[in-house]
Amino acid sequence: MEYIYKISNLRFSFDKRDNIFYGLSLKIPLRGITIITGRNGAGKTTLCRLLTGLVKGYEGSLKLHNKELAEYKRSILEHILYVKQDLTGNLMGLTANEDLQIWQNRFVEIDTPHKAILRKKACVLVGISPIQDVPVWELSYGQKRRTMLATLPLFMDKYWIIDEPSANLDNIGIKQLIYLLQQKVKARCGALILTHKLKLFENLYAFEQPYDYAGNIFTITDNDIISI
Ligand SMILES: Nc1ncnc2c1ncn2[C@@H]1O[C@H](COP(=O)(O)OP(=O)(O)OP(=O)(O)O)[C@@H](O)[C@H]1O
Ligand SMILES: [Mg+2]
Repeated sequence: MEYIYKISNLRFSFDKRDNIFYGLSLKIPLRGITIITGRNGAGKTTLCRLLTGLVKGYEGSLKLHNKELAEYKRSILEHILYVKQDLTGNLMGLTANEDLQIWQNRFVEIDTPHKAILRKKACVLVGISPIQDVPVWELSYGQKRRTMLATLPLFMDKYWIIDEPSANLDNIGIKQLIYLLQQKVKARCGALILTHKLKLFENLYAFEQPYDYAGNIFTITDNDIISI
């Protein structure tokens, strides 16, 4: 099996306080959906931030595509789309449409009519078309989450790391999220989901069978014991 991340004996603490990871070892497959769960404060978001290079100062080895993270000269986020848990963590624009435009163009590239069409499609997929030009500060929590998730279909070619994607979503929003994940698996791509709501994603495993991949569920416990 091909792995996107190989984590080996990872040790990490904030400011030399209590360790969050004591020697975590884990391989994350490149394709299919990998799920990590664990109690509040277990370290799920911290792991996302380590995997995306946003938090540094770890010991042990953390490899992306077989290359140590520290050796990457350019941003890790060229390979990964990270949708944060924090509701405003991803939002950079004044409206959903502007936010998605910034994600597409990274402040430097020129916008094109084709990109505008892709944004429209993304807004339809997560059900935010009617509010795509409303200022984000006027949006509800669920509408903000949907706006963040609208980045997913824009970056089908990147590996997705999505922290608590179902938070704030209603049932239709969850169905739309599952649909996006199914499209990702169908395209033989992968995603890592950090969640408390394992049950919501169970159907994905049934779906993945024809693609030769049974999926993985891991739990971060107090001793870093990761179980499948
Ligand atoms: N910037 C920071 N500085 C110091 N400590 C931090 C920082 N960020 C997180 N922590 C601590 O690290 C631990 C792990 O936090 P983290 O946010 O990774 O947990 P989590 O598993 O994502 O929890 P939740 O399920 O609530 O989202 C917590 O004890 C938290 O207080
Ligand atoms: Mg978290």
